[in-house]
Order: sequence, then C-alpha cells, then structure tokens
Amino acid sequence: MDTSTIVILDFGSQYTQLIARRIREFNVFSVVLPCTASLEQIKALNPKGVVLSGGPCSVYDADAPAADPKVLELGAPVLGICYGLQFITHHLGGRVESADQREYGHATVSVVAETPLFHGLPAELDVWMSHGDHAVELPAGFALTAKTASAVAGIANEARKIYAVQFHPEVAHTRQGMELLKNFAIDICGCSADWTPEHFIQSTVARVQEQVGNGHAICGLSGGVDSSVAAVLVARAIGDRLTCIFVNNGVLRKDEFAKVQSTMREQLGLNVVAVDASERFLSKLAGVTDPEQKRKVIGNEFIAVFDDEAKKIFEAEKSSGEEIAWLVQGTLYPDVIESSSVKGPSQTIKSHHNVGGLPADMKLKLIEPLRDLFKDEVRRIGRDLGMPDEIIDRQPFPGPGLAVRILGEVTAERVAILQEADQIVVDEIKKAGLYKQVWQSFAVLLPVKSVGVMGDQRTYANTCAIRAVESEDGMTADWAPLPYELLRTISSRIISEVRGINRVVYDITSKPPGTIEWE
Ligand code: XMP
Repeated sequence: MDTSTIVILDFGSQYTQLIARRIREFNVFSVVLPCTASLEQIKALNPKGVVLSGGPCSVYDADAPAADPKVLELGAPVLGICYGLQFITHHLGGRVESADQREYGHATVSVVAETPLFHGLPAELDVWMSHGDHAVELPAGFALTAKTASAVAGIANEARKIYAVQFHPEVAHTRQGMELLKNFAIDICGCSADWTPEHFIQSTVARVQEQVGNGHAICGLSGGVDSSVAAVLVARAIGDRLTCIFVNNGVLRKDEFAKVQSTMREQLGLNVVAVDASERFLSKLAGVTDPEQKRKVIGNEFIAVFDDEAKKIFEAEKSSGEEIAWLVQGTLYPDVIESSSVKGPSQTIKSHHNVGGLPADMKLKLIEPLRDLFKDEVRRIGRDLGMPDEIIDRQPFPGPGLAVRILGEVTAERVAILQEADQIVVDEIKKAGLYKQVWQSFAVLLPVKSVGVMGDQRTYANTCAIRAVESEDGMTADWAPLPYELLRTISSRIISEVRGINRVVYDITSKPPGTIEWE
C-alpha cells in the first residue's frame, strides 16, 4: 500500500515539527525537508501536497531562506503558513512589507471568501499570529480569503490550488487549526488517512525482513522506550536472529538491571545478553568529578563493553556459518530533522551519550526503524505492539544515569544512597498519580553535608535535592508545583529510610536558565 505523503518545507520556524505532528495525528504521513531541498528530492517523495512553513526572516532580505519557486508548479496543492504566505506572495509578483505593528498572540480572523480550506469553519476564526511582515499586494490570480482588522490573513488561487494563511494552524491556540489542516490534506490534496500504527508496524516489519534477509542483528537496550520499541519491532521481523545487549553500568536505578531483564525476556520475548559491568565502570569513574569527564568515561566504557559482547556474539554466529551484519538503533525523527535542518544541528550544551558503539571492524549496517517517528508516536506504536505501560510510560533517563545526579565523585556507596532516595521519589510520585504528568522526577545527591538532629542524636549527613519538571520535549521545562503534602511525604520517608541523608530540598529552577539534570 502506498501511503499519501505531505512534504513540509522548513523555513526555520520553531513550529515546523508541530505541523508534521498535527498532520500525522489524523493519520496522514508527513515529512519535513529543509526549504533548500532540491525539486528532485521533493518529487522523489511523490507528495500529494506541500506545506511551506513559517520562519524568522523577511522574504525580501538578501539572505532570506528560499525554496525552489518551481515547487509552486509541481501540480500538488500548496499551503503556505506565515512566512510561507509571504514567500508565495513575493515569488509570484505580489508585495510583502514590514508591518507598522507586529501581530503576535491571539487574533480574530474574518473569513471573507468561500474556499475549501475553510470548509466547515465559522466565519470568525480564533487564531494564533506571530509575524512582523505582511502581504500588501496579492499576486495575480490570488483572492483574499481572510483578514484581520489590519492585515491580510488568508489568500488563495483556487485554479492552481495554492492556499496560504498568515496565522499558525499547527499551534493549539488556533482553535480550528486541525480542521484547516485536515481540509488541506484530505479534501484538497486527496490524501487517505491510512498512516495508522498498524500500517506502520506492518510496513516496518516487512521492510526489516527484506533488508536483513537471513542475517543477524544486535541491539543495545537501555531499558528506555526508544530502544525497547525498536528491538520489539525488529524482533517481530527476524525473531531470534536479533540479540539485545543490556549493560549494567553501575549507575542504573535500584533493581533496574534485574527488572529490565525480566521484562525484556519474559514479557517481550526478546533474546537478551545481560552484562554486569558495574565494577568496571565504577573503577573508571573513581576520582572523576567533572560532569563532561563522567559522560566521556561512561560513553567510552560503554562502547568498550558493547564491543566485547558484540564480538563474542559475532564469533559464535560466524562459527555456525552466519554473520551479524546489522545494528539496531532507536534514532527518532527529531534527530533526523535536526541533522539536516536549515539551522544546522543546535549547539551542544551537554555532550549526550547514547547507546550504540559501532564495533568498527564488523562493518555493521544500521537499522533505524523509528527514524520517521516522534516520541509520542513511538509510544503509540509500543502500545500497539502490546508492550507494558511500565516501559511505554517511563520517564526519560539519561545514558550516564545516576552519575550525573551524584555531584562530585561517584562511588558505590553514593550510588546506593541515591538509588534508595530515587526509588522513594518515584514511588510516591506514582502513588500520587503524577508520574505520567511530570516529564521527569528524581533525586540528586549533593556534595553538601549539614547538621541535623534525629532522636537525641546530632547527625551530620548528605543533602538530597528533589527535581520534578514539566516539559513537552525536554528542550525547555518548568519546575513542577508538586503538592506540599507529597513533598512532605517524600522528604520524611527519605530522611527516615535512607541512611546517609538528613536534609531534603526542592529545586525550583526552570530550564532555561537551569537544565533538567544537575550536571
Ligand atoms: P538537560 O539536563 O540538558 O537534559 O536539561 C535534557 C534531557 O536530556 C537528558 N540528558 C541526557 N540523556 N545522555 C542522555 O542520553 C546524557 O548525557 C544526558 N544529559 C541529559 C535529561 O535527562 C533530559 O531528559
């Protein structure tokens, strides 16, 4: 089955990914390409429609991002959004100018002409605007379809099926935004809404089977949702010819090494090689206090352990006449877009280490079954694959684990203290029904000792900070206003149950300027 595709050309708007996500929400497949993509690249995807995104520049600037104007002649319907409207206006002979007043935030738009883009929508639309330029003269053949009190808000050339709006239908504040995008993708472009989880699973399994043939694959499991879903999908395709490697790096959460193994083997039927390398990691971490150095040590050690294990599997398969040729990775779509974005990869604030040391001499080829998906879509697929909630809904956990939550040196003793405190935080947040609502919630062990009193005894012990944040994607975050009663329970349980901690504080820093992790 051929899936209908909408291509979104990115002019650098912070909302571009949202356009793709919204369209996918009604089961139409959409991909983001940089606006500089060649006509051939666009045509290769056989798009049923093209969306031109918003962007931070002015179309009349000398170095303004531009798409090949021939994209307007492909024959596929076009929808311009914000900068997209200005791009269409500018390139087809209209005029765009800087407005006296920026339109930013909520606005009311009046529909002034009938167009299939606004079909079924009210005459007044409640929308979200964010622009400083506006169209002042429309190109020949275009009609005004909507306006605000002061500016052009929508234009269309029905004969050429080119539509554009000045507002942002992809933003939740635009109340009828989804209907508008549906009108475009389904009614105007004629896309079929068949990009369902079931369709994704079937086509991915078929593709992996074709790619791998009779070959073997390995996969590094972190216990998190991405690598687990990737592994389960590939296992559906090639069964036992997938071997997963799960490494205990000594800085996992309490009992996690055992729990993840049993879930992966017993509930998901995966073929798992579990390696307890905690001593190896902790000895390398001895004396290391710098956060970036910790990441480097853990990253390098992970690659070394993974390499050793992969080689063992490789040798075993080879002696039976087979060869491991594939490495499964849980790369997601935002990473794919980021690496090809017009803005280029964003600045690295912390060097994130992710699973996947490639044993170079094995010349493994990559399988990335999730590279078309956003995180919420991965969860949807995981659910459809019958994976348990405890994996699907897991909060993100950093590759370097508790090491970046133990400030100062990481020792076995400090790991054990933090594991106990962390488990109380997670337990209580789950009991309060807030685990899925907060993005991440955890404890941090500080290199600060303070005086306390317990019974009649003076204590002098460690301080622990509680961190709980709300976030959409981890890029920005707000500290979560956890109920005082919950904080009270967490604090008193930690102090009475965890030996070595006598003071608990709550972190009320947002990101930016803080980061989610303390290191
Ligand atoms: P920060 O602390 O930069 O974290 O606000 C943003 C998100 O990334 C996670 N994080 C990491 N994940 N390796 C990872 O795989 C790392 O080194 C790393 N550092 C931070 C963090 O938990 C949050 O979800």
